[in-house]
Amino acid sequence: MSENILIAVAWPYANAEIHVGNLTGSHLPGDIAARYHRLKGNKVLMITGTDSHGTPVTMSADKLGKPVEEVYKSYHEGFIELFQKIGISYDLYTTTHSENHFKVSQTIFLALQKNGFLFKKTEPQWFSPGLNRFLPDRYIEGTCYICGTEGARSDQCDACGNVLDPTKLVSPKSKVEGDTSSPELRDTEHFYIDLSKLEPDVVKYLKDRADHMRDTVLGESLRKVEAEGLKPRAITRDLDWGIPVPVDEAGWDTKKLYVWFEAVIGYLSAPIEWSQVSGNGEAWRDWWTNPNAKQFHFIGKDNIFFHTSLWPAELMGVGSAFMELFAGEEVPLILPYDVPANQFMNLEGKKISGSRSWAVWGRDALTRFDPDAIRYYLTINMPETKDSDWDWAEFVARNNNELVATWGNLANRVLAFCYKNWEGQVPDVDLSTLRPADLELLAAIENGFNTVGAELEAVHLRSAVGEAMKLATVVNQYLDVNAPWSAIKVDKAEAGKTIYTALKAIDSLKVIFAPFLPFTSEKLHGFFNYETPLFGEQYTEEVSDSLGTHTVLRYKPVEGLQWKPSELQPGKKLNQPGPLFKKLEIEVIDVERGRLGK
Ligand code: MF3
Ligand code: ZN
Repeated sequence: MSENILIAVAWPYANAEIHVGNLTGSHLPGDIAARYHRLKGNKVLMITGTDSHGTPVTMSADKLGKPVEEVYKSYHEGFIELFQKIGISYDLYTTTHSENHFKVSQTIFLALQKNGFLFKKTEPQWFSPGLNRFLPDRYIEGTCYICGTEGARSDQCDACGNVLDPTKLVSPKSKVEGDTSSPELRDTEHFYIDLSKLEPDVVKYLKDRADHMRDTVLGESLRKVEAEGLKPRAITRDLDWGIPVPVDEAGWDTKKLYVWFEAVIGYLSAPIEWSQVSGNGEAWRDWWTNPNAKQFHFIGKDNIFFHTSLWPAELMGVGSAFMELFAGEEVPLILPYDVPANQFMNLEGKKISGSRSWAVWGRDALTRFDPDAIRYYLTINMPETKDSDWDWAEFVARNNNELVATWGNLANRVLAFCYKNWEGQVPDVDLSTLRPADLELLAAIENGFNTVGAELEAVHLRSAVGEAMKLATVVNQYLDVNAPWSAIKVDKAEAGKTIYTALKAIDSLKVIFAPFLPFTSEKLHGFFNYETPLFGEQYTEEVSDSLGTHTVLRYKPVEGLQWKPSELQPGKKLNQPGPLFKKLEIEVIDVERGRLGK
């Protein structure tokens, strides 16, 4: 039975390059899940895009002294290049700066307004007398009133993780370059979403998911709602860059929708854009109005509140009104199924920091290391339940001992030995003559589809890849015992049984490893000479609308169930094999450590 699976990944801000912590936090786990569900024959839609609005983006443009449009686009292009090179297989990777996203966001706003969840209110906000403008969100820093840390941003404190009320910040300072005036509070009118009315629904929504949501996500979310309650939150800002507030009254043209209010709406607008560019405008409904569809949100822990409280609250507040306004039908949108948020990855024992150059940047690392080597280390070390650490010595050790020695050499030596001694073909064994040890190995590998599959379903990706590697070890042990390299000298037919069995196991393991290591599994799939690839191609396209042109990254899916044990035919013609992974020299450790902090 095929399932409809929406893989929704947090929208990266267009204000910094993407580093390994971002990759392991959200994009990579999302990709592993998407690839697994595609292999299972499920109907997968994996989406996100660049979070192009908000003060993180405008401030980064200010700092560079460039127009914000140019800055967001240059990050956007870089993200797409990275995702293509490391194989994050978005069906659509787009941007929030698109006509479609503007329209969908404004429709959600109007639907919430229609249902009585929005109100206008005049409240004091920080204002720069020197610049004669308001200073929303990150334009103000000060001391966190919850944990006392200095340099906290006015909207969220990185130290304690709390979402803050800006007006309560202690000793506020303007973050605009050269602005030495002291910020003061001035009245300004904004729209608010009345989250307090939706609080019981949010609590119920969370409790209904207690059987499958991670403790770190569910516990934290419920504790927060129960301790502090959900309070009304402003969903507009005094800013030039962003999505216009859809009201006709005077005074609103200098304000925009709050970036968090609209960015989460991208989980709905991106599927709609994907439908349009794919030529079937209604296809998005398979993941949005079908109550059996399952939506997963892959995010980092700093985004939990917005995905477990704000976004479900927006959706519950909207009810059927979005579809009514958007398509003239009263149909409710479904709610996210799971939010497998990850903790953080540190680097050599310290917090990753772009400003201190303490980072391993995705695009840069790919100039020196293969994508699957990076993917493997990021998966085996994924911060699923607690913070993890990128350690260069461990990266090299795991690459050499696990990827190269355990899995790569297994595949390579069996294929090469077979190719050489059986004229480029799978040994033509009579399957009824396989020995108990052969059948036992094949049964163990076959069972791997269930055990690794169950871990993947539950989004336990670390243990899933660990299980896969254990299966490779089991095949190595089988080969040690049966030693076809020496057996061939005595009895080629017996050695052929061993090689056939090992090849079939490797052909299966190729699929089991494929969600994690798509490049090398595809290469191995090629050595086995199959016609249909495991995965489809990633490609870019230009989309034009009234806001201009933006590049999107897309994926061309391959049809058919492939998450199943190998049915390798005796006598099958093979292709010339080659190595899958590269051994890394020990010197790499010092060289890479030497780059940090410079
Ligand atoms: N841009 C945010 C960040 O990088 C994530 C936004 S996720 C969204 O932390 F859903 F709101 F888009
Ligand atoms: Zn704090």
